[in-house]
Amino acid sequence: MAEFIPVPPFDLVVFGATGDLSLRKLFPSLLHRYLDGQIPPQSRIIGVARSELETDAFRQMVHEAHLKFAPKDHIDEAKCADFLKHVEYARVDATAPPSEWGALKSALANGNGNVRIFYLSTAPSLFVTIAQRLAETELATSTSRIVLEKPIGRDLASSRAINDGVGAVFDEQRTFRIDHYLGKETVQNLLVLRFANMLVEPVWSRATIDHVQITVAEELGVEGRADYYDKSGALRDMVQNHILQLLCLVALESPNTMDADAIRTEKLKVLSALHPFDAKSAATKTVRGQYKAGLVSGAKAPAYAEEVGHPTGTETFVAIKAEVDNWRWAGVPFYLRTGKRMGVRRSEIVVQFKDTPVPIFGAGAGAPNKLVLRLQPDEGVRLWLNMKEPGPGGLRVKTAPLDLSFAEEFGGVRYPDAYERLLMDVVRGNLSLFMRRDEVDAAWTWADALLAAWNESGAEPFLYPAGSNGPTQSALLLDRDGRAWWDPE
Ligand code: BG6
Repeated sequence: MAEFIPVPPFDLVVFGATGDLSLRKLFPSLLHRYLDGQIPPQSRIIGVARSELETDAFRQMVHEAHLKFAPKDHIDEAKCADFLKHVEYARVDATAPPSEWGALKSALANGNGNVRIFYLSTAPSLFVTIAQRLAETELATSTSRIVLEKPIGRDLASSRAINDGVGAVFDEQRTFRIDHYLGKETVQNLLVLRFANMLVEPVWSRATIDHVQITVAEELGVEGRADYYDKSGALRDMVQNHILQLLCLVALESPNTMDADAIRTEKLKVLSALHPFDAKSAATKTVRGQYKAGLVSGAKAPAYAEEVGHPTGTETFVAIKAEVDNWRWAGVPFYLRTGKRMGVRRSEIVVQFKDTPVPIFGAGAGAPNKLVLRLQPDEGVRLWLNMKEPGPGGLRVKTAPLDLSFAEEFGGVRYPDAYERLLMDVVRGNLSLFMRRDEVDAAWTWADALLAAWNESGAEPFLYPAGSNGPTQSALLLDRDGRAWWDPE
């Protein structure tokens, strides 16, 4: 049976409540926590958006999202109806003056000491305005918290402006910058694997590791978010945040404790040690791609330019050879790759060990060890080892996975969506899995240098067919180093 830690009663205000993230992820996650009995009955969830809606109509939207996105065996109409009694809607235009924030003020009246949380699931351009209004309307109290969805800006300067503006109302201890990749089971398991097992840490360095690969491949395209995505591209959308956070957890030194600041300080050290790109290194160590029409899982997918409706130089794929300049990782490349409309949906971290120094079983017997951490779709950890093939007739070496598949070992436990854990962490006030301001700055500093180098070169992204592994230049990036992406059939 899964266990959970109780949380105090809370009032959660979701700005951008009628948006895709809110209906697809936030409300279904809250409903799941409710079904598990984790949400105290005095809690209230208030959806805020500009649309003219009554609470009943908004509840209906949440209900429909439940029917659409919940796995069939998790649909529980009666409990969903119960949950919806805790949900209200307040119509507020975030840019309107404080006098027009009455609906939210009344919804939050009689807080009775509930933990108060404002979740900004809106465009980042609204973050500062909303924080200011919350101060002006006195809805932000000295203990209330704010959750900021990524992206925090589109470069270092804009992210600083957001952090300054929001920081004028909410101090750092009350600011939760969410990166939902940190809420994924395998990602947290990575920390446990590294720091709860004595046998892992001594081999976790350039002495034994050849290189690391981080792949986040999606089958989906831009799904109605073309406006946002075309101004962003894969580097800003996925690498600056999710993939760099994964890199940090692979590369960080052991924190002294599991305290939020102990972990975040170690992550910051990794981000600050990332080797900066310049025009020359960007040209040889990175690849930008954009999908053209193709077949994804047997279905025709249009070209990206067709989806956004005009020719565009935005990348939907990126492959990067990143380097971490510290003693542990010098000389160990971190190959990062992400793309939309790829052949399969697969997010994976591959830690590839060096080959044995002397091939006493013959050249080419077996393969270098690999630790493969699968984030999705089937979460699990596999360690590829070389073993003797059983039976007589000589010594044949076979490479086989030692499978710590979550599904088998921990059968029957439902893996919660990343947002379920992160939302409850906000209520508990646990910042461990949220990005600190200096981390965001360091990640943008690295990303900005790469964006500037790409900009300077003016090169267009390489086209790749939807449904493929990305442009061939991505394979060449590793091939030049005598390596290859781990792309199991
Ligand atoms: C979001 C990006 O942060 O993460 C999306 O904006 C992307 O473009 C999504 O599709 C991927 O998340 P997940 O959990 O489905 O891998």
